[in-house]
Amino acid sequence: MIRAFAPGRVNLIGEHTDYTGGLVLPMAIQLGTTVVGDVLDGRITLRSDRFDAPLDLELPVGDPSTVEPSWGRYVAGVAAETGATIGLDGAVTSDVPMGSGLSSSAALEVATALALGAAGGPLEVAELCQRAEHRATGVPCGIMDQLAAAAGVEGHAMLIDCHALTIDPVHMPDDLAVAVVHSGQHRELRSSAYAARRAECERAEATIGPLRLAAPDAWTAIEDRVVAARARHVIGENQRVRDVATALRAGDAEAAGQSLLDGHRSLRDDFEVSTPVLDALVDQLAATRGVWGARLTGAGFGGCVVALCEPGTDIAGAWWVRPSAGATLT
Ligand code: GLA
Repeated sequence: MIRAFAPGRVNLIGEHTDYTGGLVLPMAIQLGTTVVGDVLDGRITLRSDRFDAPLDLELPVGDPSTVEPSWGRYVAGVAAETGATIGLDGAVTSDVPMGSGLSSSAALEVATALALGAAGGPLEVAELCQRAEHRATGVPCGIMDQLAAAAGVEGHAMLIDCHALTIDPVHMPDDLAVAVVHSGQHRELRSSAYAARRAECERAEATIGPLRLAAPDAWTAIEDRVVAARARHVIGENQRVRDVATALRAGDAEAAGQSLLDGHRSLRDDFEVSTPVLDALVDQLAATRGVWGARLTGAGFGGCVVALCEPGTDIAGAWWVRPSAGATLT
Protein backbone atom coordinates (compact mmCIF):
# COMPACT_ATOMS: atom_id res chain seq x y z
CA MET A 1 0.00 0.00 0.00
CA ILE A 2 1.33 3.44 -1.00
CA ARG A 3 0.63 6.34 1.34
CA ALA A 4 1.62 9.92 0.50
CA PHE A 5 0.87 12.98 2.58
CA ALA A 6 1.37 16.65 1.71
CA PRO A 7 0.49 19.65 3.88
CA GLY A 8 -1.36 22.83 3.01
CA ARG A 9 0.41 26.09 3.70
CA VAL A 10 -0.23 29.56 4.96
CA ASN A 11 1.80 32.43 3.60
CA LEU A 12 2.88 34.82 6.38
CA ILE A 13 4.11 37.53 3.97
CA GLY A 14 5.37 37.81 0.39
CA GLU A 15 2.28 37.86 -1.78
CA HIS A 16 2.43 38.04 -5.57
CA THR A 17 6.21 38.08 -5.43
CA ASP A 18 7.08 34.48 -6.31
CA TYR A 19 6.48 34.73 -10.06
CA THR A 20 8.96 37.62 -10.36
CA GLY A 21 11.63 35.64 -8.54
CA GLY A 22 11.02 37.52 -5.30
CA LEU A 23 10.86 36.49 -1.66
CA VAL A 24 8.07 34.67 0.19
CA LEU A 25 7.64 33.47 3.77
CA PRO A 26 5.11 30.64 3.92
CA MET A 27 4.90 27.81 6.41
CA ALA A 28 3.55 24.33 5.85
CA ILE A 29 0.68 23.59 8.25
CA GLN A 30 -0.59 20.55 10.09
CA LEU A 31 -3.62 20.26 7.79
CA GLY A 32 -3.01 18.22 4.68
CA THR A 33 -4.01 15.77 2.01
CA THR A 34 -3.32 12.04 1.95
CA VAL A 35 -3.37 9.76 -1.08
CA VAL A 36 -3.44 6.03 -0.31
CA GLY A 37 -3.64 3.24 -2.83
CA ASP A 38 -2.26 0.20 -4.56
CA VAL A 39 -0.46 0.16 -7.85
CA LEU A 40 -2.76 -0.23 -10.86
CA ASP A 41 -1.56 -0.72 -14.41
CA GLY A 42 -2.76 1.82 -16.95
CA ARG A 43 -5.27 3.79 -14.82
CA ILE A 44 -5.73 6.02 -11.81
CA THR A 45 -8.93 5.34 -9.90
CA LEU A 46 -9.41 7.46 -6.80
CA ARG A 47 -12.30 8.17 -4.46
CA SER A 48 -12.40 11.43 -2.54
CA ASP A 49 -13.80 12.12 0.92
CA ARG A 50 -14.95 15.51 -0.38
CA PHE A 51 -16.59 14.89 -3.73
CA ASP A 52 -19.16 12.32 -4.71
CA ALA A 53 -17.81 11.65 -8.15
CA PRO A 54 -14.74 9.37 -8.19
CA LEU A 55 -11.88 9.82 -10.63
CA ASP A 56 -11.28 7.20 -13.27
CA LEU A 57 -8.40 8.23 -15.47
CA GLU A 58 -6.78 6.36 -18.30
CA LEU A 59 -3.00 6.62 -18.61
CA PRO A 60 -1.12 8.18 -20.23
CA VAL A 61 -3.10 11.38 -19.68
CA GLY A 62 -3.92 13.67 -22.63
CA ASP A 63 -5.20 17.13 -21.67
CA PRO A 64 -5.60 17.43 -17.88
CA SER A 65 -7.69 20.61 -18.13
CA THR A 66 -10.72 18.79 -19.56
CA VAL A 67 -10.77 15.90 -17.05
CA GLU A 68 -14.01 15.27 -15.14
CA PRO A 69 -14.74 15.42 -12.26
CA SER A 70 -12.82 18.68 -12.05
CA TRP A 71 -11.03 17.84 -8.77
CA GLY A 72 -9.25 15.14 -10.74
CA ARG A 73 -7.55 17.73 -12.97
CA TYR A 74 -4.81 18.26 -10.38
CA VAL A 75 -4.18 14.51 -10.28
CA ALA A 76 -4.27 14.36 -14.06
CA GLY A 77 -1.88 17.32 -14.35
CA VAL A 78 0.64 15.54 -12.18
CA ALA A 79 0.20 12.25 -14.05
CA ALA A 80 0.67 14.09 -17.35
CA GLU A 81 3.87 15.69 -16.07
CA THR A 82 5.35 12.46 -14.71
CA GLY A 83 4.26 10.66 -17.87
CA ALA A 84 2.89 7.89 -15.65
CA THR A 85 1.63 4.74 -17.31
CA ILE A 86 1.39 2.85 -14.05
CA GLY A 87 -1.29 4.34 -11.82
CA LEU A 88 -3.02 3.83 -8.56
CA ASP A 89 -6.28 2.52 -7.13
CA GLY A 90 -7.17 4.19 -3.86
CA ALA A 91 -8.55 7.20 -2.04
CA VAL A 92 -7.86 10.85 -1.25
CA THR A 93 -8.64 12.37 2.14
CA SER A 94 -8.01 15.96 3.14
CA ASP A 95 -8.58 18.39 5.97
CA VAL A 96 -7.23 21.46 4.14
CA PRO A 97 -10.19 23.81 3.74
CA MET A 98 -10.90 24.28 0.04
CA GLY A 99 -11.00 27.63 -1.73
CA SER A 100 -9.50 29.31 1.29
CA GLY A 101 -6.02 30.23 0.08
CA LEU A 102 -4.40 27.42 2.09
CA SER A 103 -3.29 25.60 -1.05
CA SER A 104 -5.45 22.52 -0.98
CA SER A 105 -4.68 22.03 -4.66
CA ALA A 106 -0.90 22.12 -4.15
CA ALA A 107 -1.28 19.59 -1.32
CA LEU A 108 -3.19 17.27 -3.64
CA GLU A 109 -0.63 17.72 -6.41
CA VAL A 110 2.38 17.04 -4.21
CA ALA A 111 0.77 14.02 -2.51
CA THR A 112 -0.15 12.65 -5.93
CA ALA A 113 3.35 13.20 -7.28
CA LEU A 114 4.88 11.25 -4.39
CA ALA A 115 2.28 8.50 -4.70
CA LEU A 116 3.07 8.17 -8.40
CA GLY A 117 6.79 7.92 -7.63
CA ALA A 118 7.88 11.27 -9.11
CA ALA A 119 11.66 11.44 -9.34
CA GLY A 120 13.88 13.94 -7.55
CA GLY A 121 13.94 15.84 -4.30
CA PRO A 122 11.42 18.36 -2.91
CA LEU A 123 12.43 21.10 -5.37
CA GLU A 124 12.04 18.90 -8.43
CA VAL A 125 8.69 17.61 -7.13
CA ALA A 126 7.52 21.18 -6.51
CA GLU A 127 8.53 22.29 -10.00
CA LEU A 128 6.76 19.32 -11.53
CA CYS A 129 3.62 20.15 -9.54
CA GLN A 130 3.78 23.82 -10.53
CA ARG A 131 3.81 22.77 -14.19
CA ALA A 132 0.96 20.35 -13.43
CA GLU A 133 -1.11 23.20 -11.97
CA HIS A 134 -0.49 25.32 -15.08
CA ARG A 135 -1.70 22.48 -17.27
CA ALA A 136 -4.64 21.57 -15.06
CA THR A 137 -6.04 25.04 -14.43
CA GLY A 138 -4.40 27.46 -16.85
CA VAL A 139 -3.40 29.64 -13.87
CA PRO A 140 0.24 30.72 -14.32
CA CYS A 141 1.04 30.28 -10.61
CA GLY A 142 4.48 30.66 -9.05
CA ILE A 143 6.42 28.03 -7.10
CA MET A 144 5.51 29.03 -3.52
CA ASP A 145 2.60 26.71 -2.75
CA GLN A 146 4.07 23.55 -4.18
CA LEU A 147 7.49 24.20 -2.65
CA ALA A 148 6.01 24.90 0.80
CA ALA A 149 4.06 21.63 0.60
CA ALA A 150 7.05 19.61 -0.62
CA ALA A 151 9.75 21.08 1.62
CA GLY A 152 8.05 22.33 4.81
CA VAL A 153 10.18 22.47 7.96
CA GLU A 154 8.66 21.56 11.32
CA GLY A 155 8.57 24.52 13.69
CA HIS A 156 9.73 26.95 10.99
CA ALA A 157 8.48 29.33 8.38
CA MET A 158 10.37 29.16 5.10
CA LEU A 159 12.13 32.17 3.66
CA ILE A 160 12.16 31.20 0.00
CA ASP A 161 14.13 33.06 -2.64
CA CYS A 162 12.05 32.25 -5.71
CA HIS A 163 14.87 33.19 -8.08
CA ALA A 164 17.69 31.19 -6.50
CA LEU A 165 15.15 28.59 -5.30
CA THR A 166 16.77 28.39 -1.89
CA ILE A 167 14.97 27.87 1.41
CA ASP A 168 16.14 29.48 4.61
CA PRO A 169 14.14 28.13 7.60
CA VAL A 170 13.00 30.80 10.08
CA HIS A 171 12.24 29.47 13.53
CA MET A 172 8.78 30.52 14.70
CA PRO A 173 8.88 31.99 18.21
CA ASP A 174 7.13 29.75 20.74
CA ASP A 175 5.10 32.65 22.09
CA LEU A 176 3.56 33.44 18.72
CA ALA A 177 0.36 31.76 17.51
CA VAL A 178 -0.81 31.82 13.91
CA ALA A 179 -4.52 32.09 13.22
CA VAL A 180 -6.26 31.69 9.90
CA VAL A 181 -9.75 33.14 9.60
CA HIS A 182 -11.97 32.54 6.61
CA SER A 183 -13.67 35.58 5.14
CA GLY A 184 -16.64 33.51 4.05
CA GLN A 185 -15.87 34.47 0.47
CA HIS A 186 -15.06 31.33 -1.43
CA ARG A 187 -11.99 32.02 -3.46
CA GLU A 188 -11.93 30.97 -7.05
CA LEU A 189 -8.40 31.71 -8.11
CA ARG A 190 -9.64 33.78 -10.99
CA SER A 191 -7.13 32.91 -13.62
CA SER A 192 -7.84 36.05 -15.65
CA ALA A 193 -7.16 38.44 -12.72
CA TYR A 194 -4.09 36.48 -11.60
CA ALA A 195 -2.68 36.36 -15.12
CA ALA A 196 -3.40 40.07 -15.55
CA ARG A 197 -1.38 40.89 -12.41
CA ARG A 198 1.47 38.74 -13.66
CA ALA A 199 1.40 40.51 -17.01
CA GLU A 200 1.45 43.91 -15.28
CA CYS A 201 4.54 42.87 -13.31
CA GLU A 202 6.18 41.84 -16.57
CA ARG A 203 5.38 45.26 -18.05
CA ALA A 204 6.97 46.88 -15.01
CA GLU A 205 10.08 44.75 -15.46
CA ALA A 206 10.29 45.70 -19.13
CA THR A 207 10.79 49.32 -17.96
CA ILE A 208 12.82 49.04 -14.75
CA GLY A 209 14.34 45.56 -14.90
CA PRO A 210 13.85 42.70 -12.42
CA LEU A 211 11.59 43.80 -9.56
CA ARG A 212 13.53 41.60 -7.16
CA LEU A 213 16.59 43.79 -7.72
CA ALA A 214 14.80 47.15 -7.92
CA ALA A 215 15.60 50.06 -5.60
CA PRO A 216 12.77 51.12 -3.26
CA ASP A 217 11.68 54.05 -5.45
CA ALA A 218 12.39 52.47 -8.86
CA TRP A 219 8.64 52.25 -9.52
CA THR A 220 8.48 56.07 -9.91
CA ALA A 221 10.08 55.71 -13.35
CA ILE A 222 7.02 53.81 -14.65
CA GLU A 223 4.55 56.03 -16.48
CA ASP A 224 1.46 53.84 -16.36
CA ARG A 225 -0.13 54.50 -12.95
CA VAL A 226 -1.50 51.00 -12.51
CA VAL A 227 1.72 49.27 -13.53
CA ALA A 228 3.69 51.60 -11.24
CA ALA A 229 1.42 50.68 -8.33
CA ARG A 230 1.86 46.96 -9.00
CA ALA A 231 5.63 47.44 -9.02
CA ARG A 232 5.53 49.45 -5.80
CA HIS A 233 3.70 46.56 -4.14
CA VAL A 234 6.19 43.93 -5.26
CA ILE A 235 9.27 45.99 -4.38
CA GLY A 236 7.88 46.85 -0.94
CA GLU A 237 6.66 43.31 -0.36
CA ASN A 238 10.11 41.81 -0.94
CA GLN A 239 11.44 44.18 1.73
CA ARG A 240 8.59 43.24 4.09
CA VAL A 241 9.51 39.57 3.74
CA ARG A 242 13.05 40.38 4.87
CA ASP A 243 11.67 42.53 7.68
CA VAL A 244 9.28 39.86 8.97
CA ALA A 245 11.98 37.17 8.85
CA THR A 246 14.29 39.46 10.84
CA ALA A 247 11.54 40.31 13.32
CA LEU A 248 10.61 36.65 13.86
CA ARG A 249 14.25 35.75 14.43
CA ALA A 250 14.50 38.55 16.99
CA GLY A 251 11.22 37.50 18.63
CA ASP A 252 9.78 40.94 17.81
CA ALA A 253 6.10 40.09 17.28
CA GLU A 254 5.07 43.73 17.20
CA ALA A 255 7.35 44.56 14.27
CA ALA A 256 6.29 41.40 12.40
CA GLY A 257 2.63 42.27 12.94
CA GLN A 258 3.12 45.82 11.69
CA SER A 259 4.66 44.51 8.46
CA LEU A 260 1.65 42.24 7.95
CA LEU A 261 -0.68 45.21 8.28
CA ASP A 262 1.45 47.24 5.86
CA GLY A 263 1.42 44.29 3.47
CA HIS A 264 -2.35 44.11 3.54
CA ARG A 265 -2.67 47.81 2.73
CA SER A 266 -0.35 47.35 -0.21
CA LEU A 267 -2.34 44.38 -1.54
CA ARG A 268 -5.52 46.42 -1.12
CA ASP A 269 -4.41 49.73 -2.63
CA ASP A 270 -1.51 48.96 -4.97
CA PHE A 271 -2.01 45.37 -6.08
CA GLU A 272 -5.83 45.49 -5.82
CA VAL A 273 -6.46 41.86 -4.93
CA SER A 274 -8.38 42.44 -1.70
CA THR A 275 -12.12 42.70 -1.17
CA PRO A 276 -14.17 44.87 1.23
CA VAL A 277 -14.95 41.75 3.28
CA LEU A 278 -11.25 40.90 3.67
CA ASP A 279 -10.45 44.54 4.52
CA ALA A 280 -13.12 44.58 7.23
CA LEU A 281 -11.84 41.30 8.67
CA VAL A 282 -8.26 42.60 8.81
CA ASP A 283 -9.46 45.81 10.53
CA GLN A 284 -11.47 43.80 13.02
CA LEU A 285 -8.54 41.52 13.81
CA ALA A 286 -6.13 44.44 14.07
CA ALA A 287 -8.39 45.90 16.75
CA THR A 288 -8.54 42.60 18.66
CA ARG A 289 -6.55 42.31 21.87
CA GLY A 290 -3.65 39.90 21.45
CA VAL A 291 -3.41 40.29 17.66
CA TRP A 292 -0.08 41.70 16.44
CA GLY A 293 -1.08 42.01 12.82
CA ALA A 294 -3.16 40.48 10.05
CA ARG A 295 -3.38 40.39 6.27
CA LEU A 296 -5.08 38.52 3.48
CA THR A 297 -3.13 35.38 2.59
CA GLY A 298 -2.82 33.67 -0.77
CA ALA A 299 -3.75 35.15 -4.12
CA GLY A 300 -6.62 37.25 -2.75
CA PHE A 301 -10.06 37.85 -4.27
CA GLY A 302 -11.57 36.19 -1.16
CA GLY A 303 -10.32 33.33 0.97
CA CYS A 304 -8.52 33.73 4.28
CA VAL A 305 -6.79 36.23 6.51
CA VAL A 306 -3.71 35.23 8.51
CA ALA A 307 -3.04 36.80 11.92
CA LEU A 308 -0.04 36.72 14.26
CA CYS A 309 -1.32 36.50 17.82
CA GLU A 310 -0.44 35.99 21.43
CA PRO A 311 -1.18 32.37 22.37
CA GLY A 312 -4.66 32.10 23.87
CA THR A 313 -6.12 34.99 21.86
CA ASP A 314 -9.85 34.56 21.39
CA ILE A 315 -10.85 34.72 17.73
CA ALA A 316 -14.20 33.31 16.70
CA GLY A 317 -13.98 30.64 14.00
CA ALA A 318 -10.16 30.72 13.71
CA TRP A 319 -8.08 27.75 12.65
CA TRP A 320 -4.87 27.70 14.66
CA VAL A 321 -2.12 26.47 12.41
CA ARG A 322 1.31 25.18 13.39
CA PRO A 323 4.50 25.26 11.31
CA SER A 324 4.82 21.69 10.11
CA ALA A 325 6.99 19.37 8.08
CA GLY A 326 6.63 18.87 4.35
CA ALA A 327 5.36 15.96 2.30
CA THR A 328 6.10 12.33 3.15
CA LEU A 329 5.83 9.00 1.36
CA THR A 330 5.45 5.80 3.37
C1 GLA B 1 -1.26 31.67 -5.49
C2 GLA B 1 -0.16 31.09 -6.38
C3 GLA B 1 1.21 31.38 -5.78
C4 GLA B 1 1.38 32.86 -5.43
C5 GLA B 1 0.18 33.38 -4.66
C6 GLA B 1 0.23 34.86 -4.45
O1 GLA B 1 -1.30 31.01 -4.26
O2 GLA B 1 -0.33 29.71 -6.52
O3 GLA B 1 2.21 30.95 -6.66
O4 GLA B 1 1.62 33.61 -6.58
O5 GLA B 1 -1.04 33.06 -5.29
O6 GLA B 1 1.27 35.21 -3.61
